Amino acid sequence: MTSTASARQTALVTGATAGIGNAFASELARRGYALVLTARDTARLEQTADSLRAKHRVRVDVLGADLTTTEGVQRVADAVTDHGVDLLVNNAGASLGRRFGQSDIAEESRQLDLLVRAPMHLTDAALAVMLPRGSGQIINVSSVAGFTPRGTYSAHKAWLINFSQWLNFTYAEAGVVTMALCPGFVRTEFHQRMGVDTTEIPRWMWLRADNLVVAALADLDKGKAISIPSVRYQVLANLARHVPPRVVARFAKLGRKVRQ
Ligand SMILES: NC(=O)c1ccc[n+]([C@@H]2O[C@H](COP(=O)([O-])OP(=O)(O)OC[C@H]3O[C@@H](n4cnc5c(N)ncnc54)[C@H](OP(=O)(O)O)[C@@H]3O)[C@@H](O)[C@H]2O)c1
Repeated sequence: MTSTASARQTALVTGATAGIGNAFASELARRGYALVLTARDTARLEQTADSLRAKHRVRVDVLGADLTTTEGVQRVADAVTDHGVDLLVNNAGASLGRRFGQSDIAEESRQLDLLVRAPMHLTDAALAVMLPRGSGQIINVSSVAGFTPRGTYSAHKAWLINFSQWLNFTYAEAGVVTMALCPGFVRTEFHQRMGVDTTEIPRWMWLRADNLVVAALADLDKGKAISIPSVRYQVLANLARHVPPRVVARFAKLGRKVRQ
């Protein structure tokens, strides 16, 4: 299977109202996928859906769901099953502006639900339709932060990398490819929503969501278990594996300064 769709292929993208998820929706519609788009803001989802239907003449369904809730995750899992999705993009995400120990534990639990429990549950639903069919693709949007010690957000993204690698090793032969996408800094609403100051992040470190998505889909078609778009972040991720964790952690503090 390649990520250029035949007429009957369907992709489900979580977190499609903004940023990377929105870029996935646009690129997949351009490639001819029917889409199921989910996020909490249904008015914004409808706007995206209208523009993609008009531009690419593809079917787009929208589904409002909060993936920090059991009921929201179940609703999206049911959509995975009902649409028999060919490509699942577990993208929805957010991070807390405060470090663990200073953050609210209830918010930490919700972050864990969004970044770990939801993709795990949706992957389970996807495997149930993909394995009997002998084909399917799953992208778990992780982060290069998953290679660094950087608090609970990094820990959750590390979980997603490890999980995706295992899924790929285990089910690729059965026709289901799973890939962890590990972006560096991407210009989206992510940092603004988190309330952090990004002015110290050098310009060369920023990636564009549209370029990121094209690189990710190319890696997916190659069957990669991990995709790190751009040479600069491939070098940095490699360094992160070999430099002492304390040094990596100091560098990784970039982009975490909470706005006053
Ligand atoms: N931007 C970066 O620098 C960067 C780097 C590495 C990895 N990532 C990862 O990339 C993914 C996408 O982030 P982004 O940068 O595109 O951020 P973004 O622009 O803030 O978009 C986040 C998306 O997730 C949705 N979302 C947030 N909380 C949700 C919830 N509780 N339930 C359902 N949907 C929810 C949002 O929609 P609603 O608000 O409408 O629900 C939105 O569509 C995340 O997993 C993030 O961790 C981002």
